[in-house]
Amino acid sequence: MRRVYLDNSATSFPKPHAVTEAMVSFARDCGASAGRGAYAEAIECERIIASCRQRVARLVNAESPERIVFAMNCSEALTIAIHGLLNTAPEGTHAIATAMEHNSVLRPYNALAGQMGLIPEFIHCDSQRGLVDPDDVRKAIRRETKLIACVHVSNVIGSMQPIGEIARIAREAEVPFLVDAAQSVGHAEIDVQSLGADFVAFPGHKGLLGPLGTGVLYVREGMEDHLATMKEGGTGTISEQAVQPRTMPDKYEIGSHNAIGLAGLSEGVAWVLEKGVSNIRAHDERLCEIFLRGIGAVEHLTVYGPRDIAARAGVFSVNVDGMNPGELAEALEKDFGICTRPGVHCAPLAHKTIGTHPKGTCRLSFGPFTTDDDVQYAADALAKIAEKTVVGR
Ligand code: ALA
Repeated sequence: MRRVYLDNSATSFPKPHAVTEAMVSFARDCGASAGRGAYAEAIECERIIASCRQRVARLVNAESPERIVFAMNCSEALTIAIHGLLNTAPEGTHAIATAMEHNSVLRPYNALAGQMGLIPEFIHCDSQRGLVDPDDVRKAIRRETKLIACVHVSNVIGSMQPIGEIARIAREAEVPFLVDAAQSVGHAEIDVQSLGADFVAFPGHKGLLGPLGTGVLYVREGMEDHLATMKEGGTGTISEQAVQPRTMPDKYEIGSHNAIGLAGLSEGVAWVLEKGVSNIRAHDERLCEIFLRGIGAVEHLTVYGPRDIAARAGVFSVNVDGMNPGELAEALEKDFGICTRPGVHCAPLAHKTIGTHPKGTCRLSFGPFTTDDDVQYAADALAKIAEKTVVGR
């Protein structure tokens, strides 16, 4: 049976051929650890990691490659920023985020509430489009506010938050601003300098088409002075010193790198650069149009999130009357070979916002290799399931 992968929000698949090739070549021909040897293979590993860092910096227009800190995934990158900024702050420190955040922001905020008396505030988003009103963010800022975090694109319904406006508000109030770009990097333009964000966290394995086990934290120049380390250890640099280096990016990159992963990520980013993010976005917009048109007249099917393409990305949550999301995902896979993610998607407040907590929804998410036909096929499959379910009742 045809197999259609529509779980690109969890991780992108497939990857460009060059990603796999680079990883195989690293494992077969290099295999050394950067900064841990003076021989050719160790130096080659350093070159591979440096080249990956340069490409990522170019993609997001970072001031320099040193601003790019490699992590295991976006959750780890977010936690480096959140804990690093807040866990030495005094009790009663206030931190803002939105109701559309993923658990990778909700959980560190709530953990810090217990650990050091942080006061987290999750700003309401509208139930139809899942969008925050930047003015509500402005009104929530107090003297004790030490961080504003905002997800760029919802991993549940694809809504695209007005991060430019929120960045301006944060800058005016001189509050650090952290963007969770888990679902937007590689899918939508992100220029960290013109955005003016202090921190931007993103995975390497979603829109950047690298392998699992890769993630990035962009740290604006000078912000490392306000960001404590969460972990300390060997960096392969300034080894004569028994305290953590203050230099970027090694301050936050402890232990040997996931070099094989970064070899793959480098080629994923090269693919995105070559293709052009604006072209990838145009492709995504077309897929959104096809999907929305395809399910437009289907009865007993609910589609959540913005209908206007400009306010969304290709991440759709749906429900069929009388079916739970797990049953719907099972029917999509068993009868049509379509891979989706049912449930709450690690975003309980987002589901509360759209009224689907605790059962959740079934999510379909597109990537650069998703075709027009894949999306039409998925829309037709949903129509058939919705019709069958109602007839069978
Ligand atoms: N955060 C990822 C998702 O939404 C894993 O599926």
